Amino acid sequence: MKPQKNSLSHKIASNILTIIQSTTPIGEFYKNVTYLSHKNDPNSLDFTLGDSHEMPLPGFVEAIQKHTIPRELGWYGYKESLPKTREVVTQALKKHRNISILPDDILMTNGTVVGLAMCLKLLVEEGEEVIINLPPWLGYRKMVQSVGAQTIGIPVKPKTFDLDLEKIANSITPKTRVILINTPHNPTGKIFSENTLIQLSNILTEASYKYGKPIYLISDETFSRIVFDNKNCPTPTQFYPYSFLVYGYSKTWMAPGQRIGYIALPETMPERQEIKRLMGYLQTLGFGWCFPSALMQYALEDLEKLDLKVDKLQAKRDLMVRELQNMGYEVNIPEGTFFLLVKTPLKDDCAFAELLAQKYQLFVFPGTPQEIPGYIRLSLTANDDMISQALPKFKAAMDEVR
Ligand SMILES: Cc1ncc(COP(=O)(O)O)c(C=O)c1O
Repeated sequence: MKPQKNSLSHKIASNILTIIQSTTPIGEFYKNVTYLSHKNDPNSLDFTLGDSHEMPLPGFVEAIQKHTIPRELGWYGYKESLPKTREVVTQALKKHRNISILPDDILMTNGTVVGLAMCLKLLVEEGEEVIINLPPWLGYRKMVQSVGAQTIGIPVKPKTFDLDLEKIANSITPKTRVILINTPHNPTGKIFSENTLIQLSNILTEASYKYGKPIYLISDETFSRIVFDNKNCPTPTQFYPYSFLVYGYSKTWMAPGQRIGYIALPETMPERQEIKRLMGYLQTLGFGWCFPSALMQYALEDLEKLDLKVDKLQAKRDLMVRELQNMGYEVNIPEGTFFLLVKTPLKDDCAFAELLAQKYQLFVFPGTPQEIPGYIRLSLTANDDMISQALPKFKAAMDEVR
């Protein structure tokens, strides 16, 4: 669309217009009429996105309330990453992930996306390439495009959903600047193993030598605290020095509007002093005074004590997997995240999702817009009541198309 003179779009800078107007499969999904017309209907059974359908975790509100009362002058002033908050993060990383990151190497952000955007902005120049794994989280392609770079999409392996290391190695070119990975992986729920991540590190080290410049690894670990069966989620930042661990608490607390997260650098990162200095400028001048929330930084110590109820989520996963399998669905059992991938009985996943929506007011995310055709994704953030209402409908839909 060509911007009309005097229209708002005429005033918007062309780089952002290009991003808004370039259609993506996800963008197409959001134009879906059935979804749009039922999105805000309280009776619709919405398993589409990761929105919580329950009240906040017990203690969440109290933890925030407690810190709203100023304890000193400047309580609500601009705050960079607070030493106390960084210390809390260091301890949480030790406790939950068994990794050591120095408080000084943690930069607080307003959530995962801000951390990812800052890393991309810092590292990537126009015309360079960023490798992502397919299916990608819906924001990646646009974020890479917004720094003028090109995404190189490498599908995960079809059956195991593991990283395809051979294809990743073959896709590295002199233009490659970053590989962005996501573990546990939305939407497959795959946790990449230590062995896979060590091999990935070897590939990146070799390619960095070959091309005479570091290839950086950005690791989106937003689901790293939602792992099932007491599994461990290894971070690639323990194996590869030129790496960034990016995290946000949105998923952990299921309260994504109350934003806080961080970027953590491993002690082995050779450029970490320079990176921290530049990130400081980026956060303020480059990202419009994007200081991390003062209130959420104060509250973090108390929020870290909340019970995340992963057991409850795991029970929902087990129930849904068992019931859907009994109905004849082929269900992928996720190791982490709160998503279930289900093979559609119709070849056309969009047609099946539309059938569920139109006939049963049951909303799911079709795989095609997420670049994983033949599947639908269901979010386990639906509440128990929604799940028990939805199960007979999934059965009826299966019986109808079988
Ligand atoms: C893989 C992945 N990364 C990042 C985000 C965004 O996280 P945040 O709300 O912390 O910015 C999401 C949200 O759905 C996600 O699934």
